[in-house]
Amino acid sequence: MDWEKISSEAKIELLQVTDLLSLEKWRISYLGRKSALALFLRQLKDLPLEEKKIQGPLSNKVRQSWEKMYQEKNDDLKNNQIVSDSWDHTVPVKSALNGHLHPLTLMAEKVVSVFEKMGFEIVEGPEVEDDYHNFEALNVPANHPARDMWDTFWIKSDEKEKNLLLRTHTSPDQIRYMETHQPPFRILVPGRAYRHEATDATHEMQFYQIEGLVVSEDITLANFKNIIEESVRHIFKKDFKIIFRPDYFPFVSPGVEVDISCFKCRGKGCRLCSNTGWIEVMGAGMVHEKVLTNVGYEKGRYQGFAFGLGLERYAMIQYGIDEIRLFESADLRFLKQF
Ligand code: PHE
Repeated sequence: MDWEKISSEAKIELLQVTDLLSLEKWRISYLGRKSALALFLRQLKDLPLEEKKIQGPLSNKVRQSWEKMYQEKNDDLKNNQIVSDSWDHTVPVKSALNGHLHPLTLMAEKVVSVFEKMGFEIVEGPEVEDDYHNFEALNVPANHPARDMWDTFWIKSDEKEKNLLLRTHTSPDQIRYMETHQPPFRILVPGRAYRHEATDATHEMQFYQIEGLVVSEDITLANFKNIIEESVRHIFKKDFKIIFRPDYFPFVSPGVEVDISCFKCRGKGCRLCSNTGWIEVMGAGMVHEKVLTNVGYEKGRYQGFAFGLGLERYAMIQYGIDEIRLFESADLRFLKQF
């Protein structure tokens, strides 16, 4: 008997067994009373002594190994499977996956709740904007070189004179709000923005910003610094190092960039922070006088600050994520962690 060959056939057949009924068929054909093995064992006594000494232990070993295989498969099927001929409703099932909120939603809710406690009103604006609100009213007229700061997705439409686009930032909502409201006010505008540019670990074509705007007769840059430092402390519950640097945006003067020390290298410099030790989280500044007069406010009467923070950047810092593209990747291995 070529036990090796038969054993390997038995193994292959057993692999294909998925229910108790076919397991029983397998048992009958390999271990049953009429199986080749049983017949062989029965004839063993008639063999010459020398042969018996070799074949006896060998065939018994084969029997033991098949019985073990059978037992394991039997346990396996009973533990893990709904048996085809009966429904055992006491068998525990794997619990279904529960849905949960996306990390960006969690982060946005956190930011919004902190600013709400500081008295900010939450407003929203359209993602399809016109040139006037996205650029012109923000002191970025046509052909202004600063337009290069925002690579734009233009929209083909019949309303040619309006020049529609996907908003490149949430700043147009400053204009929309001021056109219909008088100071004093403090608002927060969460929303999606789009830029026609190459992606990398910290840049996406589609991302979220949260715009803030505070205007009254006596708001100063010191108020801005204080609100940002307070909000960062409450949002992250950590004492992050924050730095305010001069920057340029046509709709603010002076303009500011706010950086938080890099969570990955702790300020030493790495790929994520382009070896600067800092991660830029927002653009900001004192609202430009041109913007205030563009919405019809009396010249020189009001002043205020505006900021636009990158929600993904905040979430990266909060959760220690070093690749922005994971957020929209729909990769469950990533999403399941939140
Ligand atoms: N809108 C700017 C941007 O997206 C950020 C910003 C907002 C700057 C408000 C100043 C004031 O780049």
